[in-house]
Amino acid sequence: MSHRIPHLALIASLGLAALACGGAVLAQPQAGPQTGIQFHNTITGEVMDTSEGKPGGRDTKAVQTFFQTGKNVYIDDKSCLRNGESLFLTSCSGCHGHLAEGKVGPGLNDNYWTYPANTEDVGLFSTLWGGANGMMGPHNEDLNPDEMLQVIAWIRHLYTGPVKDAAWLSDDQKKNYKPFKEGETFAKDAPGQCKPLPE
Ligand code: HEC
Repeated sequence: MSHRIPHLALIASLGLAALACGGAVLAQPQAGPQTGIQFHNTITGEVMDTSEGKPGGRDTKAVQTFFQTGKNVYIDDKSCLRNGESLFLTSCSGCHGHLAEGKVGPGLNDNYWTYPANTEDVGLFSTLWGGANGMMGPHNEDLNPDEMLQVIAWIRHLYTGPVKDAAWLSDDQKKNYKPFKEGETFAKDAPGQCKPLPE
């Protein structure tokens, strides 16, 4: 049957190509965080490259987990909330208000979102990474991915809306949820996954 011949020829040449390349190509895992999740620009929908922007903060367990699953393990971690507050006050509060209550930028502490994807941490990360419209520029030059997860944890902590709409919390986290209280502070040596930021 002559129609088999091209198939056989193809299989044979693939086999040769595999031999020529050697096993090394297949054996090496990819360096850097595995990107199981694709991040899309909030406005254009374009796929974003998380290797671009401020260096560092890509090899932490939290970032690797987030890039793989979309779950932010810093939510509820006091050591990360303390850092997140400080980063938020430097990069965001000028436009969004001290408590994310809204100023020239919209409030981030209620259950209304211009971009509903921001109710998930993957969506919020994408908005921070690539920006939105007008004055909401991309923040991937001033925050690396690990710092973004800390800022996200802080924004979620500032939330004052109904807990049922807190899509970023697991059912257990919803059960143990305590609403934000103004004036609450975190000790510098609060135990957790985040090291204090450099002074
Ligand atoms: C220069 C002012 C400015 C700064 C700084 C700024 N933002 Fe914004 N932000 C805005 C404006 C204005 C909008 C509305 C843009 C839009 O609707 O597309 C916005 C929109 C957003 C949204 C979308 C909210 C929604 O309802 O869906 C999020 C989330 C957000 N900002 C988070 C942040 C975070 C976090 C930071 C700090 C890393 C930050 N922004 C820094 C001005 C700013």
